[in-house]
Amino acid sequence: MKLGVLCSGGDSPGMNAAIRGAVLRAVDVHGFEMIGFMDGWRGFHEGDWIALDRPAVRGLSPLGGVILGTSRVPPFAGRPGEEIDLSDFRARYDAYGLDGFLLIGGNGTQTVASILSDHGVPTIGLPKTIDNDLSATDYTFGFDTAVSIAAEAIDRLRTTGDSHRRCMVLEVMGRDAGWIALHAGMAGGAQVSLLPEFPETLEQVCEWVTSVRDRGRSSLVVVAEGFRLDGAAVTREGLDGFGRPRLGGVAEVLAPLIEAETGIETRATVLGHVQRGGSPTAFDRVLATRTGIAAADAALAESWGTMAALQGDQITMVPLADAVGRLKTVPADRYAEARLNFG
Ligand code: F6P
Repeated sequence: MKLGVLCSGGDSPGMNAAIRGAVLRAVDVHGFEMIGFMDGWRGFHEGDWIALDRPAVRGLSPLGGVILGTSRVPPFAGRPGEEIDLSDFRARYDAYGLDGFLLIGGNGTQTVASILSDHGVPTIGLPKTIDNDLSATDYTFGFDTAVSIAAEAIDRLRTTGDSHRRCMVLEVMGRDAGWIALHAGMAGGAQVSLLPEFPETLEQVCEWVTSVRDRGRSSLVVVAEGFRLDGAAVTREGLDGFGRPRLGGVAEVLAPLIEAETGIETRATVLGHVQRGGSPTAFDRVLATRTGIAAADAALAESWGTMAALQGDQITMVPLADAVGRLKTVPADRYAEARLNFG
């Protein structure tokens, strides 16, 4: 059997470990041939690939980023729900002599995997995203690393914030789901964690910050990039909800508003891609390796149209259709737990 592997979407710590796990099982144990396309679908379109065998994946587990590269280049024209023409795609797939695909990616990639599978292209999904917002799996590799980095940032911001009696606002990633902000905020004891799923008013945020100050402490506010103030759309583009030119990310909009409202000196930090870079945590290395191994076994069993999901402590193959179509967002009871520390 010949498998093609590629990574699509933003990178996520653990992608190399997942490739290594898949190769060790698929090539060494099952006797498959594996090739990896460079920079996602670009490599597939342009014939840019490398052979993947044991020497090619040696020492990969602790390595951040991904040796194959990744991109957001689409595999075919057309959007989900639209009629798509796969004739060019199929011709290329046949020319490579592939028997199946292992697709490593987040929501967009697993949606593509599901479409390909529905159109008869043998495909298995390996879920990754630091955002942890994929349904049908408890955790995606990369998330634990991102949370660890964000929690460390909170710890560091807290000491400088305390020294200056400032309110420190930390923006973390999370466009549609606030898992990183929730976990990092809880780990770091943030006094406010703001998630896309739960809009809060500026008055409420300032009340929390003020009550912390009244107890003689300085506040640490962690905010997911997708958070919107209730009643005032703080947006990444154009004008903020108060009609002023956009100042930057949500933290850079929020910090001056908090300062103006409370009189407490406030600083914004945007963590950005720092939280996606560097070596994966041990948890992510293990999860990614096991995900790769499970995907290789699923290919042997010809369980196409499935995704390797973590459920409890088991990697289970679930239908791709269960993973796509709806984001896994933070439920109200988890937000209520975080809120216990607010203010
Ligand atoms: O989906 C993962 C993610 O890290 C989001 O949290 C974030 O909005 C986005 O990727 C950033 O993408 P890019 O690296 O293309 O700027």
